Amino acid sequence: MKSLFSAGRWSTGLLGLCALAACGGADEPQESDSNSSAKAERIRAMNQVTDHHSYARPDEARITHLDWSASVDFETRTITGTAAYAIETADDAERIVFDTHGLAIAGVTVDGQEADFTLGEERPFIGRPLTISLHPGAERVAIQYTSSPDANALLWVEAQGDRAPFLFTQSQAILARTWIPVQDSPGIRFSYDAKVRVPQGLMAMMSAENPTETSADGVYSFRMAQPIPAYLLALAVGEVEYRSVGERCAVYATPDLIDKAAYEFAEMEELLLAAEGLYGPYAWERYDLLILPAAFPFGGMENPRLTFATPTIIAGDRSLVSLVAHELAHSWSGNLVTNATWDDFWLNEGFTVYFEQRIMEAVYGRDVSEMLATLSYQGLVDEVDAISDLNPDDTHLKLHLQGRDPDDGMTAIAYDKGYFFLRLMENTVGRERFDAWLASYFEEYAFKGMDTERFVDYLKRTLLADEADLAAVRLDEWIYGPGLPDNCPRVASPRIERVDAVLTGWEDGSLATADLPWNDWVYQERYRFLSNIADDTSAERMAELDATWGIGRTGNNEVLFAWMEQSIRSGYTPTYPRLEAFLIEVGRRKFLTPLYRAMKEADQMDMALDIYGKARPGYHSVATGTMDALLDWNEADS
Ligand code: BES
Ligand code: ZN
Repeated sequence: MKSLFSAGRWSTGLLGLCALAACGGADEPQESDSNSSAKAERIRAMNQVTDHHSYARPDEARITHLDWSASVDFETRTITGTAAYAIETADDAERIVFDTHGLAIAGVTVDGQEADFTLGEERPFIGRPLTISLHPGAERVAIQYTSSPDANALLWVEAQGDRAPFLFTQSQAILARTWIPVQDSPGIRFSYDAKVRVPQGLMAMMSAENPTETSADGVYSFRMAQPIPAYLLALAVGEVEYRSVGERCAVYATPDLIDKAAYEFAEMEELLLAAEGLYGPYAWERYDLLILPAAFPFGGMENPRLTFATPTIIAGDRSLVSLVAHELAHSWSGNLVTNATWDDFWLNEGFTVYFEQRIMEAVYGRDVSEMLATLSYQGLVDEVDAISDLNPDDTHLKLHLQGRDPDDGMTAIAYDKGYFFLRLMENTVGRERFDAWLASYFEEYAFKGMDTERFVDYLKRTLLADEADLAAVRLDEWIYGPGLPDNCPRVASPRIERVDAVLTGWEDGSLATADLPWNDWVYQERYRFLSNIADDTSAERMAELDATWGIGRTGNNEVLFAWMEQSIRSGYTPTYPRLEAFLIEVGRRKFLTPLYRAMKEADQMDMALDIYGKARPGYHSVATGTMDALLDWNEADS
């Protein structure tokens, strides 16, 4: 075994020397040039940023294409396969390093010959480096492996009654390495082909060109021609049907949901056209949506060509499509221009919330998008309050997550502070200039990584080249400072203001429950009302609301969620059976965290632990990670 470096040593060579503007190498096209000086330049450019959450050393050797062949075993809850990579190396490269977490490595070949490899020590969150020795000029590395039954990315949903089993992956942020050995850093991109065997009768889907029918033999082939980072690798397996809803759009869902999903998301193509109208052509050919089992821990995940989504956005009235607008927007912000490290997460999410709002405005009008912006502002102010006490540095846009789980950075700061920062820039330079700038940003950095420092440099050279604009924005305060600067744009939503006035009237008794304009309100207004009811509202008043407006029977899960949370705080027990059923069925963390927290704060820990004990086996690791900590849950005690 030659030249193995210790696990914690990161390449430092050019890092300190490479001034951002001078180091334009990453601007070079990454695709299909065989010219060796371009290659050297590209490899040097990979040295610009250090990703503390990956062992890969892309400046030495990096993957460019994946050929994955694998088989999915529901009995053992494992994926066994071979990940074969085309690689690109620096001239003196002696090794290539992959990320793994809980994988059993059966063997490695380099250019077809068996090769030496070592698995380094395991570190929390990031797993173990797999280091493979290379000979000069090595071009192809193949790794045979099996995943662990408790791989963190995977959720194996058991068959129940006539419901078939289901498997899905969630790779973001650093979980891809739990189901495939890969250079799991968002700055490293590769195209892929895959051949996957699954149990007969089930359909397999990936973040790639997908089948539209179940195959007879359980074997599926996939192709993703555009280079993507590992966190966008995705696989789902289940009894799923396909329904086209437009020229480039379709929904995939289990048989019980396919009709509802086709109705709910019939407007997808319109969103796609609006997005293209704003910021340029869609780069991924198709945009489809897969409705996952309710255990999916997120609202949505922007897997290229195939967004994964929770069924809790099926409301029956198309009222929750903004989530689709969000994931669609990631096709530009995130999937095309990608945060280089998880410290730069706001470059993915802040841009995406901004783009989402613009799509919503274009399709549904300004008063709808301004209601959403108002809710986003309220969420942000609450989050800044909550985080400022614990860890004020986490309220900066640019994060410092070294040594921590990147999941810690998944707060409203990246999303909503990021959004308001972009909105401030829009206000400062005017919409026309801002839109042209954003479109050219996506074009210029398509299929590339972007880190905060480089972005700031770009901003200063382009959109904010004018001193007065730069001064007005106060960039450093926003990006490297705490909380919300006082030049944060104000949102004006007369509809939300009316809701607040109605709530005040209802609370001081001047407005009777029967006189609430509940039936005139759309979900954002109902949500605003319910989520701002005083914590000490009595169970009697909750009963009155329920009896008058049938709130507990709503089909909108956002409204239901706000209702259940307030029911806990008010001790309104008739909601509890619904609450328990909801928590057992739904694994979406955004709902779970506030509901379990409300039980905890309302001295209902017994109920919380009782429900959690029943629900936990059905949750994804992303959700149990958060809930275990919130409820001080110890597996051993249960
Ligand atoms: N990419 C995120 C989900 C994510 C972030 C997963 C970080 C793992 C780590 C996705 O685009 C997202 O933001 N989803 C939101 C929906 C949205 C409308 C804000 C969610 O799931 O709630
Ligand atoms: Zn997002």
